[in-house]
Amino acid sequence: MIILGIESSCDETGVALVDASGSGTPRLLGHALHSQIDMHQAYGGVVPELASRDHIRRVLPLTDAALAQAGLSLPAVDLVAHTRGPGLAGALLVGSGVACALGFALGKPVIGVHHLEGHLLSPFLSADPPVFPFVALLVSGGHSQLMRVDGVGRYALLGETIDDAAGEAFDKSAKLLGLGYPGGPALSRLAQQGDPQAYRFPRPLLHSGDLDFSFAGLKTAVLTQVKRLANARLEGPATSHLADTLSEKQKADVAASVQAAIVEVLVKKSMAAVQQTGLRRLVVAGGVGANAWLRAQLGTACERAGVRVHYPELHLCTDNGAMIALAAGMRVQAGLLTDVPSAYHFDVKPRWPLAELAAGSSMAVDRSDTGAGKLL
Ligand code: KG4
Ligand code: ZN
Repeated sequence: MIILGIESSCDETGVALVDASGSGTPRLLGHALHSQIDMHQAYGGVVPELASRDHIRRVLPLTDAALAQAGLSLPAVDLVAHTRGPGLAGALLVGSGVACALGFALGKPVIGVHHLEGHLLSPFLSADPPVFPFVALLVSGGHSQLMRVDGVGRYALLGETIDDAAGEAFDKSAKLLGLGYPGGPALSRLAQQGDPQAYRFPRPLLHSGDLDFSFAGLKTAVLTQVKRLANARLEGPATSHLADTLSEKQKADVAASVQAAIVEVLVKKSMAAVQQTGLRRLVVAGGVGANAWLRAQLGTACERAGVRVHYPELHLCTDNGAMIALAAGMRVQAGLLTDVPSAYHFDVKPRWPLAELAAGSSMAVDRSDTGAGKLL
């Protein structure tokens, strides 16, 4: 079964094809990606309307590119999958609309995939895939969650952020350092030249005894530190120009120190989750999973605890179509897409807790808030 997957939830348009025939892990046949980073950079963050328009421009050329890479043409596609949520409503609607149009034209079913399920399962495309069950640390721009994963669609939330996500903490700290958008990769690059112990930033909820995170206080701590270094009045506005007065060494030290604070919390809570569940496998997914310091620290902690840790391939850590096609394929193989409605209705779920998938509902049977459901 050939599955075409479309991702358009935020600032990356991704299209991919997988072969989900048989029971083995779906095989990636081709994938094409366009990042909108350059376009949004001028605004210091994602502009939703521009994102939607750019998805419209990119999605069909990327579909052609993915098909060409796979050596296939559209009629070979058996199922069209798209990101149904969570994400920006307008951006999601582009993928959803195109998927339904393609499905209708081809006479093939269409399914809506949960973006975080895509991230969660993306390590299955790596050279060192995990096996169920495992603990998953999902760290993206909008989410920080620890999940217990017993199989496809069998997800139990163990803990999550009560305010900002880890990716947000990276992005906001980077902005205060004048590093632009997206901040995570830039901050982590700069941190390589800094001293992680130069400044002591808070480790929120480190000893809370539960598996929740809180990162909102970090940006205030970073702002206070930057202002102190810039010798600025502490009650002044938070502006990225403040950082212009810092030396490169000071900026690198702040970057390394804030990264160390975020990573320490993520590592400690992940190890606590592993211990609580008694599971010996940890999967790290989402954009922050690309962070080299996180990988190094987790590597050490997991080795010490005798825990196997799995990541997606580096280029599949951030948003992409491959993880959407893969998640659809694994759902099909798990028999979770059997109840398929009959019309090409499309809708999206900009807010959609991953734990909702765990209630035994697949997207195909999830009609709770949509009437006809997402699928065809
Ligand atoms: O998963 P993702 O691509 O998009 C969402 O679903 O949100 O994650 C994007 C997030 C951004 O906050 C970005 O700054 C962060 O992942 N990120 C990183 C790194 N690469 C991406 N954060 C820290 N270090 C990185 N190397
Ligand atoms: Zn994502």
